[in-house]
Amino acid sequence: MKILVINGPNLNLLGRREKEVYGDITLDEINEGLRRQFPKIDFHFFQSNTEGEIIDELHTAIDSDYVGVVINPGAFSHTSIAIRDAIATINRPVVEVHLSNLYKREEFRRHSLTAAVCTGQIVGFGAMGYSLAVDALLRLKEQH
Ligand code: DQA
Repeated sequence: MKILVINGPNLNLLGRREKEVYGDITLDEINEGLRRQFPKIDFHFFQSNTEGEIIDELHTAIDSDYVGVVINPGAFSHTSIAIRDAIATINRPVVEVHLSNLYKREEFRRHSLTAAVCTGQIVGFGAMGYSLAVDALLRLKEQH
């Protein structure tokens, strides 16, 4: 079973960036943790700081053999209609993850343009949010 995990801008800097908000863990450690926790899943991990590259990667999920997509669009969640439109074209479940609890933070982070076209959203659980999202995709798959 294949799952696509996409991380957007500045998430390559996890472990060095605003540690009081995002903690010490790096993106590589998060991805390694998923591989360890779900050894049977064939993960494809993708990170980009560029909107168009994220859109191109989302397009690879259309009619694909991915069980679903986990995406942390970073700040693009609050700004990108183009990423929202790309997610809306994907005929697979998509789970949006944010490490921090957006609803405890600045007003501009409380609105996600992308969440409305996702299957669901997981916020505020730090790195654990990614494994909750993978678990959700696997449970959704079991239901079908
Ligand atoms: C984030 C939240 C966004 O508001 C922010 O721009 C990020 C990280 C999170 O995972 O909590 O880059 O997506």
